[in-house]
Amino acid sequence: MAKRRFTVTAALPYSNGVLHVGHIAGCYLPADIFVRYLRSRGDEVLFICGSDDHGVPLLLAARQEGKLPREVADFYRAQQKRDYDGLGIRFDIYSGTAAAEVHTEISQRFFLKLLENGHLEKRTSEQLYDPEARMFLPDRYVEGICHHCGTGGARGDQCEACGRLIEPTELLQPRSVITGATPELRETVHWFFRLPEFEGRLREWIRGKDDWRPMVKNFSLGLLEQGLPFRSITRDLDWGIPVPLEDDPDAKGKVLYVWFDAPIGYVSFTEQWCREQGGEPGEYERWWKDPDCKIIHFIGEDNVIFHVLTWPAMLMAEGTFQLPENVPANCFLNIQFPGEDETKISKSRGTAIWINDYLEQYEADPLRYYLTMIAPERQRTAFKFEDLIRRNNEELVAALGNFVHRNMTFTHRYFAGAVPPCAAPTEQDRAQLAMAAGLPDRVSALLEGYRFKEALQEVMAAARESNRYFDYRQPWVLRKEDKAACGTVINVCLNTIKTLAVVMGPFLPFAADKVAAMLSATPQEMAWDAAAGLLPEGRALGDPEILFEKLEGPAPDDAAAGVPHERSAGD
Ligand code: 2FM
Ligand code: ZN
Repeated sequence: MAKRRFTVTAALPYSNGVLHVGHIAGCYLPADIFVRYLRSRGDEVLFICGSDDHGVPLLLAARQEGKLPREVADFYRAQQKRDYDGLGIRFDIYSGTAAAEVHTEISQRFFLKLLENGHLEKRTSEQLYDPEARMFLPDRYVEGICHHCGTGGARGDQCEACGRLIEPTELLQPRSVITGATPELRETVHWFFRLPEFEGRLREWIRGKDDWRPMVKNFSLGLLEQGLPFRSITRDLDWGIPVPLEDDPDAKGKVLYVWFDAPIGYVSFTEQWCREQGGEPGEYERWWKDPDCKIIHFIGEDNVIFHVLTWPAMLMAEGTFQLPENVPANCFLNIQFPGEDETKISKSRGTAIWINDYLEQYEADPLRYYLTMIAPERQRTAFKFEDLIRRNNEELVAALGNFVHRNMTFTHRYFAGAVPPCAAPTEQDRAQLAMAAGLPDRVSALLEGYRFKEALQEVMAAARESNRYFDYRQPWVLRKEDKAACGTVINVCLNTIKTLAVVMGPFLPFAADKVAAMLSATPQEMAWDAAAGLLPEGRALGDPEILFEKLEGPAPDDAAAGVPHERSAGD
């Protein structure tokens, strides 16, 4: 296949808290698997992420912790970075919308371009105002009943239950999150994005996307059927990107809406990365405006509306950007503790497993494995810690780890640690080699379709089949009767291990690196296209190493017991 170019992004997490398993399963792990796969194939990829530092979520955290918004953002951004590093999620850049200097400039330029192109409208409207706190209550500062679906606890920007957008003034029985007061209406000026103008183009564009996940496509087309509203893209807040209209007194004290500047963060971080590489200003365009470069946004289900409707409409309105090629979204991950019902992952109720707690006790690969095997690709699924332990022991250790270990130790014990020749292979030996040789294409086809769970299942099926081959050929018996045939079996198995290591690389990168070292394999030999290439006979192997440890639990920290467990910038 010809080499391709991709800009891959993973949703910018709010820097108001630490990461839990739901975040990772939602978009960061699938994005990392995809990027590792593309890189292994030799495609050129830029993998962008960073924190979403503006908006009300961050202000609420700062208020709760008695800190400045910037302190809170810096603290959580640094912790998030450590968590991603620990899990082997390797972005080219992990920045933040309040950390990247170019972000203000690029966001403001974007706003001005939309204004210039006639897609914004300044309007005076009545907004919710908290008379006790003496401030307007945009977005999550207000809660109430969703006017679309009637669910309580809906926030003033989006309803979690039905996923639809909400204007705070549309909430039924609104209540200030700060003081509990019933808000009153006050006039204020804001800039609105003429979103309805893009309905036709969005519909046509989405309808043409035959390879998108049905959930993403149907949900977005459904929203388009109901019609899109004008969206206010400025806010009365003192934390965010200032509205860049110095000569307009109405713009004073206004900032850009967080969902306006956040997706622009993908572009700003790209520019920051380019400049850090010594590039000239504007080099981000190569990753965002060139039709040969495919843009893929990995997100969670609650972000579909923003990445499939509002952000592409913003890109259309700006006029010079490419639209995303695909927006693979996962559903939410629930959690289930022993003897309890499946429930939502929730910070306040303590029903979460935090990544930093997990990594204090366990390795990254078992979690990467388990989260991929239960990936909520089509529907919500549940995380069960005891299931992670069981699958680690029964699948990673007993199938994959065992196949590698039994062959490595056998080679060291009976073939002086060197790859034996493949002399006179039998039909079974050839069938095994053919099974392994076809594996990269089978896994590749699934990964190209964003079917990560099935791709990993394919890898594991090959590992199990390889164990059956080993058991069937009984090299421990052949060793005494026919040493050459025994060498052939081990040769076939070592070559299978090499192929397995390449295809498991995107999912289990730490284990794959260990196997590469055991096989003394070069990076070229470990490339996707070379996965089925044979190891030279006589190659001296490295020392056998255990790939996966048997685990016994318990769940990290006190989360398993459902004990509320909070993290704050002051911890
Ligand atoms: O839902 C969220 O967590 C948002 N912070 C995601 C932002 S993604 C992007 F557009 F910046
Ligand atoms: Zn709703």
